[in-house]
Amino acid sequence: MNARLDRFTDVDTPALLLDLDQVEHNIDRYQRGAASAGLKLRPHAKAHKCSAVGRIQIERGAVGLCCAKLGEAEAMAAGGVRDLLVTTPVIGVLKIRRLVELAKSARMAVVVDDESNIAALSEAAGAADVQIDVLVEVDVGQARAGVAPGPRAGELASLVARSRRLRFRGLQGYQGKLQAVASLGDRAALVREAMAKLRVSLDGVRAAGLDCPVATGGGTGSFPIDIGLGTLTELQPGSYVTMDTAYAKVALASDGDAHPLGQPLTILASVISRPAAGKAIVDVGWKSASSDGGLPSVKDQSGLIFEFAGDEHGSIRSTAGELNLALGDRIELIPSHCDTTVNLYDRFAVHRSGRLEGFWTIEARGKSQ
Ligand SMILES: Cc1ncc(COP(=O)(O)O)c(C=O)c1O
Repeated sequence: MNARLDRFTDVDTPALLLDLDQVEHNIDRYQRGAASAGLKLRPHAKAHKCSAVGRIQIERGAVGLCCAKLGEAEAMAAGGVRDLLVTTPVIGVLKIRRLVELAKSARMAVVVDDESNIAALSEAAGAADVQIDVLVEVDVGQARAGVAPGPRAGELASLVARSRRLRFRGLQGYQGKLQAVASLGDRAALVREAMAKLRVSLDGVRAAGLDCPVATGGGTGSFPIDIGLGTLTELQPGSYVTMDTAYAKVALASDGDAHPLGQPLTILASVISRPAAGKAIVDVGWKSASSDGGLPSVKDQSGLIFEFAGDEHGSIRSTAGELNLALGDRIELIPSHCDTTVNLYDRFAVHRSGRLEGFWTIEARGKSQ
């Protein structure tokens, strides 16, 4: 048995482990970076989906959290987080009803990119006598939601500002495609291009005579560039807290400290079969490790390679040939994509450098509505 993993004997597998020492290190690192540039940090809860982690982020300086979906926001609000931005448009009567309900007990902000949605939000907020903060989303290169850079953001902002129950707060411009570009220099050029598009829209809003206190966006990969650029006022990195193998390759600084963040998130797997000398089967497959970002890697054992072998099975082989694993032995895997792996688990087994502290519910897992 691998001696280091003896410490998780009270944790059955597959399990999602979270090293709290490294989580706190990552949170503090980005919090300090944002604060030293005079920027606010509103981390994205889509990566961890756990209000206990969100509360640590807020205790350590974050102004609130971002949520990708209303269901995530409901889970974070129930867990005590009172300042939330939903970074995806909230469309349709059913969802707007839930947003208005949330706004009775939490400060809620939402992004828009359409007049009819602004009208529906305004009417629902008026009927419920609540205030909702609104930001106009600008498509700065992601090519999903958002208005084109230019005067359109100012037009929608003016519409928001005319509503009694909506408060115009600013713009959101998030470019996700560049976040994992490995080279800092290449990524910096792409971030500058994206932020130039956002500035065109910020100018449009100001030309419309409106105050625009918030420019929000950014992720884990753009963070080191965003803090020096001065376009965004609020940063929304998500993966920085848990990390994954995709982000492990991304240089976050140009000096010798290119990879300053820890890798707190791992999957604990058990060997359940040894069908051949060079092959072990573990109890982690597609249902317990996401595959959209590629294969998880085996932690601390560079010669071992994980491959998916089915919904519930994974296969381990050694590049050195010999495989020193027995039935019941445990290994740790580093997920290739944190968000989609976290979404597969009910709870984190939280530890400090291998010493188990307890289990934290991942309340927003599966909350995709
Ligand atoms: C709107 C928005 N903001 C921020 C993030 C956080 O990005 P990352 O996890 O790369 O830090 C995401 C991630 O998908 C996002 O969609």
